[in-house]
Amino acid sequence: MPCNIVVGGFFGDEGKGKIIAYMVKKDNVNLAARGGVGPNAGHTFNLNGQTFKVRMLPSAAFNVNTKLAIGAGVLVNPKILLNEITSFQAQKRTFVDPHCGIIKEEHIQQDSTESFLKDKIGTTGTGTGPANSDRALRKLSLAMDCSEIKDYLSEVSSMIHSELDKKNNILLEGTQGTYLSLYHGRYPYVTSKDVTASSICADVGIGPKSIANVIIVFKSYITRVGGGPLENELGREEMQRRGWLEYGSVTGRERRSSPFNIDLAKRSIRLNGGTSFALTKLDVLYPECAGVKEYSKLSYPAKKFIEEIEAELGLKAELIGTGTDVDSVIDQRC
Ligand code: IMP
Ligand code: MG
Repeated sequence: MPCNIVVGGFFGDEGKGKIIAYMVKKDNVNLAARGGVGPNAGHTFNLNGQTFKVRMLPSAAFNVNTKLAIGAGVLVNPKILLNEITSFQAQKRTFVDPHCGIIKEEHIQQDSTESFLKDKIGTTGTGTGPANSDRALRKLSLAMDCSEIKDYLSEVSSMIHSELDKKNNILLEGTQGTYLSLYHGRYPYVTSKDVTASSICADVGIGPKSIANVIIVFKSYITRVGGGPLENELGREEMQRRGWLEYGSVTGRERRSSPFNIDLAKRSIRLNGGTSFALTKLDVLYPECAGVKEYSKLSYPAKKFIEEIEAELGLKAELIGTGTDVDSVIDQRC
């Protein structure tokens, strides 16, 4: 059984939550571990007509058989975490690394009032940047010192390695997207740490040798929320006409958008060491493909769109999203 990792290939909001939820349901994942920054990310998925959103727990939260872990590199907002644990009734299967950093009210205040962060960068205002800054200064409180979440503490790296020894199925969940990386994105319009696959591994405490598949999630068009450059950005009217207008799941802000960018996708594959990719929201570009679950039933233009991307990237679109529901996926994995 493999340890797979899923990361975002663009600017976040590529549909990682839906792809991960699909894999968890299909592959009966034993352990899902979340890496990335923290509650600035919102992963959304629709299951049996209901919409779920997670900002702290992995997107496997709905599956009662999956252990839910949060890696040491992730920042925790205890209030948000405890709410999610309650709403998914995940008390017995949530594990928070004692070395996770804790976001305090002062971090949220700074993130949502300081003009550089709020207006120029357009952060999510969730306190993650200021908390990571305190962590670099070695003055941030850690989960091991936080009484509110003491019942959930467990060393995530050891948990993952013990699941690996048992040859169990493990899924590592990245958050944000490659071009929000502090190192590889368009600084300063980025998040507060690196978010490529290597860093997600470091966040949860696992080395690159243990990873079987690195799945990069691309949306069929690009969206970005907050400041910073976006090549071929569409005007609002055009976004509306194409049905690409979206709202941020954490902040409710309107997302900006542009068509699929093959050069960004290529670079993203290299930065993450991608072994395959997932393509989401194909039905937004090709409404006739909504809900299709077999590749052969896709329309000719949709197939052409996918095959051109596959040829350019030299990788296969192993998972293709054709609708909001978790099950609306074409699964071409071997
Ligand atoms: P921060 O991560 O809140 O500091 O925000 C820095 C930049 O990253 C802003 O442009 C945010 O909109 C963006 N950002 C952070 N997390 C996400 C995410 O999960 N999805 C999309 N954009 C994000
Ligand atoms: Mg999101």
